[in-house]
Amino acid sequence: MDAYKAILSKLDVRQFDSKKVPAEVKLRVLEAARASGTGNNKQEWRFLLVQEKEMLKRLAEDSTSGGWVAGANFAVIVLSDPTLGFHLIDAGRAVQNMELAGWDQGVISGIYTGVKDEKMRKDFTIPAGLKPVAVVGFGYPVKRILGKKNRMPLPELASIDKYGNKFDPKKLS
Ligand SMILES: Cc1cc2nc3c(=O)[nH]c(=O)nc-3n(C[C@H](O)[C@H](O)[C@H](O)COP(=O)(O)O)c2cc1C
Repeated sequence: MDAYKAILSKLDVRQFDSKKVPAEVKLRVLEAARASGTGNNKQEWRFLLVQEKEMLKRLAEDSTSGGWVAGANFAVIVLSDPTLGFHLIDAGRAVQNMELAGWDQGVISGIYTGVKDEKMRKDFTIPAGLKPVAVVGFGYPVKRILGKKNRMPLPELASIDKYGNKFDPKKLS
């Protein structure tokens, strides 16, 4: 899939088909995480793959806002080092790359950030210096994804000059 099309059409979903995602797609997702750039190339993130039904259920129980992950085919817990000022940017870039790599193969995903830190640490043996900052659940979509995003218009989000004039495509040089 064209990268731009993938960005524009990818929605965050919370419902998945029961169809199995092949191992090679999971590998592409993890490789996409690994390929992400980090501040100073620190690479102080780690990725925990969760594939067993039982563990996906456990993951859901360890969450405050991602109970839906129980229905995912697999999930990736993103861990990062909270002492680094840019750790959330690093994690976010890896999340986005994983989601787009999956979507390129027809696998949709959703992210959540609400985790019960202590419980999750125990259940998934998370190293003390790392923090679970996001979880991404993946699977095939249950219905056709139309890619209609609820977003503010570009002129509300971007300015075209240093005076704060709203973005206007006619003023692009
Ligand atoms: C930083 C961040 C945190 C999020 N946390 C949650 C979450 O805890 N639970 C959840 O179900 N969705 C979560 N989302 C998903 C957002 O609700 C979703 O990206 C947004 O509604 C846009 O969805 P769309 O791309 O399908 O339009 C999070 C998204 C981001 C970027």
